[in-house]
Amino acid sequence: MEELKVYGGNPLIGELSVQGAKNSSLPLLAAAVLVKGKTVLHNCPRLRDVEIAFQIMRHLGCIVKREDDTVEIDSTTISCSEIPEVLMGEMRSSIVFLGAIVARTGMATVNFPGGCELGPRPIDLHLACLRQLGILIDEHNGILDCSIDKLKGSKITLSFPSVGATENAILAACTAEGETIITNAAAEPEIVDLACFLNRCGAKIYGAGEKTIVIQGVSRLQASEYRVIPDRIALVTWLCAGAITGGELLLKQIVPEHIEGVLPFLEQTGVKLLVDHHNIYLRSTGKLNAMSAIRTMPYPGFPTDAQPMMMALASKAAGTTVFVENIFENRYKHAVELTKMGADITLEGKVAVVEGVPTLSGARVRATDLRSGAALVVAGLAAEGITYISDPYHIDRGYEPIEETLCQLGAVMSRIK
Ligand code: UD1
Repeated sequence: MEELKVYGGNPLIGELSVQGAKNSSLPLLAAAVLVKGKTVLHNCPRLRDVEIAFQIMRHLGCIVKREDDTVEIDSTTISCSEIPEVLMGEMRSSIVFLGAIVARTGMATVNFPGGCELGPRPIDLHLACLRQLGILIDEHNGILDCSIDKLKGSKITLSFPSVGATENAILAACTAEGETIITNAAAEPEIVDLACFLNRCGAKIYGAGEKTIVIQGVSRLQASEYRVIPDRIALVTWLCAGAITGGELLLKQIVPEHIEGVLPFLEQTGVKLLVDHHNIYLRSTGKLNAMSAIRTMPYPGFPTDAQPMMMALASKAAGTTVFVENIFENRYKHAVELTKMGADITLEGKVAVVEGVPTLSGARVRATDLRSGAALVVAGLAAEGITYISDPYHIDRGYEPIEETLCQLGAVMSRIK
């Protein structure tokens, strides 16, 4: 069993280029299945979830090669339409491959994605979108058997702007006959990234990043080369780590607009932020103020994925910060772990009330999911003494080896086997 061992009390100082976005890479890899030929993706992060996506693609018959941050996918040789149960269970977002596989091969067989640590995460919206485009889906014994005679453009209205369902709908609609209109679509930067890549491949997608997306079906897509956007959630993680440790960071190769929903809250803590087109400079004294109520919302609102790390920050900020989690039902597991480190957090349904404490103390805690793990790292960096974080494989799903990244900035931490 692995653990991260974090020695608290060292300010993070230095410069860092932020990794490519996990949540863009996964749909872009699904798009590489849809598009016949050789796709080249630059800035593709070295993450566990990306590796699982590679396994899915290889199972389908793609040839996948990586050299540093560049990945080449040759999907000419696709010979299979099934994702094995074990890979569906490993990563819930494998479901984003469904629309791409059906559109490319005319059929797909996948299992329902496994249970999730963030509470129930149904896929009803994904299936409704795909059915709306004419895909026949037979559900039996936890298996989804999908087939299609001809994909037909359609009007799709999402009851909630689900990121994954919007991605699946876009992937399936690109080569459908006629026009597809998705209303109440998700507007996250990762949706825009997917649409930009597909348009480069010859798709006709208009309005990505807005509430209504229009897709005019094309008969053929050509593989292309593309650069994945920087990871806005990794960026927030490093900002929180810099702020809580009283650090000084220059974070490079970023898109500041992608975290516009977060920056005002960080500023309220009293840290100094200087933002230009591709960089953010942060300087913190380590003495933080509480923030006004943080309510997670679909983009451009405050991202749910940033909530755990911001809660770590709030737990050491003078005063009371209230969080309202509106996206996921069960996203406060880190609060319980932070409490073991001395944080004062009260939970009531979707609300968490955090009373800042002057010091956090090192403790034995568990990464229960990806961002909870990141929140514990942030807290551990500022705690007195040593924090041991078990199950760091959750963190590896979304961060290039986190101990290597943070040690470059002066953190003292290591991975114990
Ligand atoms: C994506 C991100 C994840 C982020 C989330 C919200 C990826 C790989 N993951 O996840 O990091 O936290 O967006 O920004 O991009 N829902 C349904 N039925 C569905 C689909 C979703 O009820 O068919 C609900 C979910 O249970 C959840 C909410 O909608 O409560 C948001 O989910 P969604 O936007 O789909 O998130 P993901 O695409 O799974």
